[in-house]
Amino acid sequence: MPFTAKEREDIANIWAKASGHVDSLGAEVLDRLFKTYPKTKTYFSKFNLDPASPDLKRQGSKILNAIGVASKHLDDLDEALSQLSDLHAFHLRVDPGNFNLLCHNVLVVLAIHFPKDFTPAAHSAWDKFLASVSVTLCSKYR
Ligand code: HEM
Repeated sequence: MPFTAKEREDIANIWAKASGHVDSLGAEVLDRLFKTYPKTKTYFSKFNLDPASPDLKRQGSKILNAIGVASKHLDDLDEALSQLSDLHAFHLRVDPGNFNLLCHNVLVVLAIHFPKDFTPAAHSAWDKFLASVSVTLCSKYR
């Protein structure tokens, strides 16, 4: 479903605030993911999984930056995320169920750090956006 003007505004507004803190926010997303859904740790066996470790900051920033790129391509997510989609489906073979778990933790971190901006409408816009990112990243599994 296309994004409304208000949804686009809410997505851009929170991304503008988050984009300067991708290391710390991204590391928190992963720390929460691993604590709430410990099975997800199996994909990162070579990482130091301590909270805010350099590995979590590096990987967390990669994830958030990819979400940032996606936020600028709301009308062509398939194309924008094509390489990442190939990587996760064919090379990493991440179980598709894990994408929703990660997205949930992104929402939690945004809500905690940007409480004034994370209105119910912004929550809904980000949920729709991240669900679209997940669907796109899972599209190559078929
Ligand atoms: C919104 C969802 C996700 C996004 C935007 C995302 C983004 C990325 C990015 C940008 C990279 C780095 C690619 C590169 O270096 O070229 C990556 C790597 C990786 N992702 Fe994801 N990812 C997502 C979900 C997941 C999930 C749910 C898992 C597993 C639970 C996962 C597991 C991995 C692994 C294992 C790597 C390789 C890490 C390494 O060894 O360096 N990803 N992801």
